[in-house]
Amino acid sequence: MHDRASPHFNLDGRTALVTGGASGIGAAAARLLHELGAKVVIADINAQAAEAALEETGAALHVTGDVADAESVERMVDEIHARLGRIDLVFNSAGIGDDLLPVHSQEPARWQRVVDVNLRGTYLVCRAAGREMLERGSGSIVNVSSIVGLGAFPGRSAYGVAKAGVIHLTKTLACEWGPRGVRVNCIAPAYTKTPMVRSLLERKIFDPATIERRTPLGRLAEQEEMARAAAFLLSDWASYITGAVLPVDGGWSAYGAAGDVDKGPPVQV
Ligand SMILES: NC(=O)c1ccc[n+]([C@@H]2O[C@H](COP(=O)([O-])OP(=O)(O)OC[C@H]3O[C@@H](n4cnc5c(N)ncnc54)[C@H](O)[C@@H]3O)[C@@H](O)[C@H]2O)c1
Repeated sequence: MHDRASPHFNLDGRTALVTGGASGIGAAAARLLHELGAKVVIADINAQAAEAALEETGAALHVTGDVADAESVERMVDEIHARLGRIDLVFNSAGIGDDLLPVHSQEPARWQRVVDVNLRGTYLVCRAAGREMLERGSGSIVNVSSIVGLGAFPGRSAYGVAKAGVIHLTKTLACEWGPRGVRVNCIAPAYTKTPMVRSLLERKIFDPATIERRTPLGRLAEQEEMARAAAFLLSDWASYITGAVLPVDGGWSAYGAAGDVDKGPPVQV
């Protein structure tokens, strides 16, 4: 493909489903995909927030449901097909955090719910939206993993298992659906300043300075930085990329040394 004439990418004419699009990374993505020309549908469990996000993001439509519930997902996808005819792009951002408890203290039902929303939800939405993409022979999906899916974080077993599962699901789908023209990738964000993280900061669950010192780029992420990575992977600019896991983490997952990154290399005399 030699497309020298188009220096900018756009998503004109595409219909994009953004789960969890009422808040945080999903809302930032909904806004950006709209700005790039897509017709955006927000799917969220929080109807009131989704309604408010319509105006704020420029999205065309919102549907309400629980991504962890198969019937709910089928209903949302059917409604989008009935109203807009097709889904070209999916950004699976719906997710919840966990209880920050060690495995032996976690309550099984809560553990399961975290896995269900983050992993089963991604699976169900890919499955429901992917069927029509496969029939048509085109489509692009971006799932949301996490640095917690790349390496173990004590106290985060449910979330970590789910986000590691999202990576494996992404790779499996990329292999199954690549021959049928559907690309599936995921991003692995680090700490991003969204409502989810702001509430953890307010409750002093973690100290931003500690994270900044552990991050080569020295700061937390903006949600728009996740949206831009997702938009790239969704777009035709990523036409030869599938099954990829893109860390959007300021270098967090690249760093393997002891101590703070800003101290520089240990000097051996
Ligand atoms: N913020 C971070 O630092 C960070 C880091 C790594 C990964 N992530 C992932 O990014 C995604 C977005 O996170 P965020 O920080 O923007 O969170 P957020 O809480 O701001 O937004 C999540 C959205 O998902 C919706 N949602 C929750 N459960 C749902 C369900 N069962 N069905 C449908 N919608 C549901 C919520 O109503 C909300 O609108 C999540 O998958 C999260 O795990 C976030």
